[in-house]
Amino acid sequence: MRIGIVGGTGDIGEGMAMRLSQTHDVRLGSRDVTKAGEASRECHLQVEGRGLPCAIDGSSNQEAADFGEMVILAIPFKHLVGTLESVSGLEGKVVVSPVNPMERREFFTYVPPEEGSAAQLVQRLLPDSKVVAAFNVIAANRWKALDEPLDYAVPVCGDDPEAKRTVLDLVAEVPRLQGYDAGPLGTACMVECITPLLLNVARYNKMRDVGILFR
Ligand SMILES: NC(=O)c1ccc[n+]([C@@H]2O[C@H](COP(=O)([O-])OP(=O)(O)OC[C@H]3O[C@@H](n4cnc5c(N)ncnc54)[C@H](OP(=O)(O)O)[C@@H]3O)[C@@H](O)[C@H]2O)c1
Repeated sequence: MRIGIVGGTGDIGEGMAMRLSQTHDVRLGSRDVTKAGEASRECHLQVEGRGLPCAIDGSSNQEAADFGEMVILAIPFKHLVGTLESVSGLEGKVVVSPVNPMERREFFTYVPPEEGSAAQLVQRLLPDSKVVAAFNVIAANRWKALDEPLDYAVPVCGDDPEAKRTVLDLVAEVPRLQGYDAGPLGTACMVECITPLLLNVARYNKMRDVGILFR
């Protein structure tokens, strides 16, 4: 599958690209094509350095959006609306939101938009795209730790059954990752608010990269 990552030069974008590019064609998007090229080269170094195949190229965010059959929005919540206004042509595509709207106050807290969740905001802005919330709760460092398995659960929310199936199939291809249908897009708020919980658990218990499994 062709996967475009908008904001692909960031932590989660690069981490996901390193894993997914071993079996899929990935285009890392950025506002700055030079930065995207550098991020792409770093991914090649890490992945191919381990003798693994790597299909990644850097590009503009628009080219990544055009390229992907699936487009992942690896963008901080505060830049989400502006970024979506800067790209076009996402109609009919599977658009994946790993975005967690949260703030660090005395502790990390979930601050959803009026739509109910970041994923629902994306769906309002992209009414003709098939928006799926997924990959919200795995720390970028875990994606980048290529020598370690990703032993985590991935709750997946969406209103389009076929799009949700596509994302669950992608999850199933990554060794040890376990995807779960978590319901329609209206349940995305429950998934997005897990991350501030995990960050608080990490902070108050002196842990790192806390994740979840369902048993
Ligand atoms: N980090 C994690 O562990 C993690 C885990 C799960 C989910 N998430 C979610 O994934 C999303 C991305 O997180 P991240 O940690 O990867 O973010 P990040 O590294 O802070 O930023 C990602 C990319 O966003 C772009 N960006 C930065 N400022 C921007 C602006 N003003 N306008 C447009 N684009 C801008 C940058 O790309 P360019 O400068 O190349 O354009 C940057 O590389 C967030 O919504 C987060 O909640 C993160």
